[in-house]
Amino acid sequence: MKTRSFTIVKPNAVAAGNTGRILDILAAAGFTLRALKMVCFSRNDAYRFYSDHIGKPFFGELVEFMTSGPSVVAIVEREDAVAELRKLVGATDPAKAAEGTIRKLFGESLTRNAIHASDSQEHAVREWSQWFWPGEIMEADYGFTRK
Ligand code: CMP
Repeated sequence: MKTRSFTIVKPNAVAAGNTGRILDILAAAGFTLRALKMVCFSRNDAYRFYSDHIGKPFFGELVEFMTSGPSVVAIVEREDAVAELRKLVGATDPAKAAEGTIRKLFGESLTRNAIHASDSQEHAVREWSQWFWPGEIMEADYGFTRK
């Protein structure tokens, strides 16, 4: 069954001009876009988005990084989207990520790891709801099926 997940192309990847390359990797892996926009995280946005990590040693650096420049947020769809996106994105630490994964290709460090992928269906819905109103999510079948 097709499901959806949420992803963020993080500020280092956007600043380096890698947004297009990353979206291309997602498309080649069979993900279709259901919603897409460029946003600037405020400190409030970062605290809300990463509320599970408040108080952890890396939280301050994470907030500084996520508010350092624009990000690109997206809802993507395919079979088993949450698990397949996590596989494609790779381990949190780019140094430990498998060859060919997005973090291996574009990540610079644990914090500057290029991309976020939701870790569960429940979190995916919570996370995309912070960035997209229902009307901004393309619900119709526009013939997105890959040929
Ligand atoms: P992400 O998958 O977006 O979720 C939390 C983010 O915190 C993670 O990616 C990293 O960018 C960042 N982070 C920094 N240090 C750590 C750490 N030691 N463990 C987990 N996440 C970290």
